[in-house]
Amino acid sequence: MDAVLDALENPIAIAAADGRLLKINRAFRSSFLQGLDLPAGGGLPAGIDLPALREALRADSLPAQVEFEFLRGVHRLVYRVKVVPIHYGERDARLLKFQDITEIRRLQAVRRDFVANVSHQLKTPLTSIIGYLETLLTRPGLPEEKKREFLKRIAFQTRRMESLVLDLIQLSELESGKTLNKKPFRLKDLFREVQEQSEVKARQKGLSLRFVLPRKTVRLLGDFHRLREALENLVQNAIQYTPRDGEIAVYIEPLADNRVKICVRDTGIGVEPKFQQRIFQRFYRVDSARKMHAGGTGLGLAIVKHILEAHGQEVGVDSAPGKGSVFWMTVERADSA
Ligand SMILES: Nc1ncnc2c1ncn2[C@@H]1O[C@H](COP(=O)(O)OP(=O)(O)OP(=O)(O)O)[C@@H](O)[C@H]1O
Ligand SMILES: [Mg+2]
Repeated sequence: MDAVLDALENPIAIAAADGRLLKINRAFRSSFLQGLDLPAGGGLPAGIDLPALREALRADSLPAQVEFEFLRGVHRLVYRVKVVPIHYGERDARLLKFQDITEIRRLQAVRRDFVANVSHQLKTPLTSIIGYLETLLTRPGLPEEKKREFLKRIAFQTRRMESLVLDLIQLSELESGKTLNKKPFRLKDLFREVQEQSEVKARQKGLSLRFVLPRKTVRLLGDFHRLREALENLVQNAIQYTPRDGEIAVYIEPLADNRVKICVRDTGIGVEPKFQQRIFQRFYRVDSARKMHAGGTGLGLAIVKHILEAHGQEVGVDSAPGKGSVFWMTVERADSA
């Protein structure tokens, strides 16, 4: 029986109703006793000697279930333990089956935050659309000019909602692991398409936007449309977060292995080191950025990160606040350098 218990991955214990442990398996030892054996007397070890669990052991109405937090080093883990009545030898005892549910709980929290964020992001424009519509409906005598202005605002907020929904669709497609369409393509084509998409906005803002191609043709490997989307997001951010008359350059740097780094350098507001990880999370925006680009949702970089991860590649930022940033993504080469 010991061999069977030890083979199980989850911590298991057999206890008497008074809480004395009669038997434990290997997983129990490594999870709750730092790999050691039970101390003499065999009570519940510190850390899991909890009133709720003691009560469950004494309870008449078994099976019972208890959840508790357990501190292992710096990690706060969440366990669920099921207490089931069994016969052990000649006596009545309890079988304790432990399950580590830390990850399940974490995912539930992520999901809750996500839903709360999305609802909030949709509600804000919706509230303002309803406000303008009601004004238009209840005040037919408004001057033509005012009416037009309200309609324009409604159009702006509606587009904002549309872009949020499109971003969400994109994220969920990426998450459901839709396969990538990986093919060789030319860096030149990627740069051209991103340039066509972004140069008007850059010009309107009085920014110089340069795409620097190496003299030698560079061929890359990946899902062209997705990588274009990723680079477009980086270039759009550079445009949004760079004040007038700034400069943006898009170029590549070779890496030691068979990859290149595509870099987008701007002379914009930059990102403080303490935010440099977090901006890649969904919905995260730095306050200073909100002022420059009010309509953003904070999904752009989350999408970029997803796209690069799906390729087994990386994205990152080097930045000095107030001076500018270099956002970069790595891409596999189709030719060997
Ligand atoms: N080039 C940049 N310079 C300075 N800050 C940046 C730059 N790019 C991104 N950031 C910061 O990262 C945050 C997240 O960027 P992300 O693209 O995910 O969202 P967003 O631009 O705020 O909104 P969206 O892309 O949905 O319109 C931004 O709000 C900003 O704080
Ligand atoms: Mg963005």
